[in-house]
Amino acid sequence: MSEQNKFAKLEYDGKVYTLPVIIGTENEAAIDISKLRDMTGLITLDPGYKNTGSTQSAITFLDGETGILRYRGYDIEELAEHASFMEVACLLLFGDLPTQSQLTRFEKDVAEHSLLHEDMRKFFDALPSTTHPMGVIAAMTSALTSFYPRSLDPYRPPHEVYRTMVRSMAKLPTIAAWAYKASKGHPFNYPDNTVDYCSRFLKMMFAMPTSPYEIDPVLVGALNKLLILHADHEQNCSTSTVRIVGSSLASLYSAIAAAINALGGPLHGGANQEVLVMLRKIKESGVSTKTFIDKVKSGDKSARLMGFGHRVYKNFDPRAKIIKKACDDVLNKLGINDPLLGIAKELEEAALNDDYFVSRKLYPNVDFYSGIIYQAMNIPEEMFTVMFALGRLPGWIAQWKEMLDMKQAIGRPRQVYIGATQRAFVPMDKRVDTK
Ligand code: CMC
Repeated sequence: MSEQNKFAKLEYDGKVYTLPVIIGTENEAAIDISKLRDMTGLITLDPGYKNTGSTQSAITFLDGETGILRYRGYDIEELAEHASFMEVACLLLFGDLPTQSQLTRFEKDVAEHSLLHEDMRKFFDALPSTTHPMGVIAAMTSALTSFYPRSLDPYRPPHEVYRTMVRSMAKLPTIAAWAYKASKGHPFNYPDNTVDYCSRFLKMMFAMPTSPYEIDPVLVGALNKLLILHADHEQNCSTSTVRIVGSSLASLYSAIAAAINALGGPLHGGANQEVLVMLRKIKESGVSTKTFIDKVKSGDKSARLMGFGHRVYKNFDPRAKIIKKACDDVLNKLGINDPLLGIAKELEEAALNDDYFVSRKLYPNVDFYSGIIYQAMNIPEEMFTVMFALGRLPGWIAQWKEMLDMKQAIGRPRQVYIGATQRAFVPMDKRVDTK
């Protein structure tokens, strides 16, 4: 990033102010307004941060107009094709693709911390059975701060930071699998540290005392790819949450727990579950895809086309392209013929040829096809967003670490106040109910 002697001029109240322009390594330009209030008394207003850069970052580059997504400079297509999720985690966390010995060391460290403290088992019983697994994993992640209070050390010694990062990577899959087991009333499986990260998770999810789990390379490969595709996405809602919570020097676990809660919303990661619900409803009600699309276009809020549209991608979402192909591959390899895939393809075709979607630049996003793969893997719907969280974890951690390393000030936006101006206190006997 550099300033390259570019400036923007702002004219206000008869005065001209000069503001520096920051140019990123991919030539993205931003007006630096950090001194704007001191200079002019003005702040900027941008609800939803549609046009606001909250930070400079060297982790992920995405260009929504041309459908580019790169982690640390590497195209998502290449990473999804050639790398393992653990390699991508190293890339995001430490800045470069790991050598074999670095990767082995990291995998070993993560495996060593994959157990949960036995006291945590009680929490799984304590939550009501109606708790969504996202609620369970958020609560359990939050609880990690109590088990590892040194994660709160405000001086952040590097070895403690590393250990907290590793523990987060190690324990979330165990927490996620146990949340699933608890929801089923099945016994918990302990992590098997002799197998890789994805196989370990699948074993914890599906092994039963009555039937040991056979690792299926097709499922492991699919999971690996899905986790890579979700691993980071620059300053999205949950990642911005991580950075803002972390900026108060709360522990990494607290920041991740907050991000999990942000991710769970249906407009963010929760959309992958909603897509399946939508496809199933279409199938069960027997309505045609055309009728459904017409309902979406009518502005009926209960009929949004879930898995479509994106704040940043306005051409196509490169992750959706890869997932759509993976979906065909996995279902073929597993010999599954899922009618929901047919409905999804019909919806996509109809939307991509309809002016409502074309004019608003609405394309399938990462969530449109991922649920169909998860379903083929026997992962239940309520766990879809948990899978997204497992994938996004290294991104959240990398962004938290970057925020700490750059000593970012506490996140604290301003506002334009639009409420009542000063008024005198009214005693109780003089108050009138105006509603
Ligand atoms: N179905 C129907 N209309 C839509 C959709 C959709 N999925 N998405 C946007 N629109 C319309 C919206 O009604 C608006 O129309 P108008 O200009 O007539 O009012 C226009 O397109 C612009 O939409 P917006 O809501 O202002 O755009 P945004 O950038 O604020 O929202 C979004 C982005 C992802 C929240 C939105 O597209 C959406 O709700 N999509 C469905 C949920 C979804 O799939 N979310 C997952 C996002 S990708 C994974 C992730 O990063 O979490």
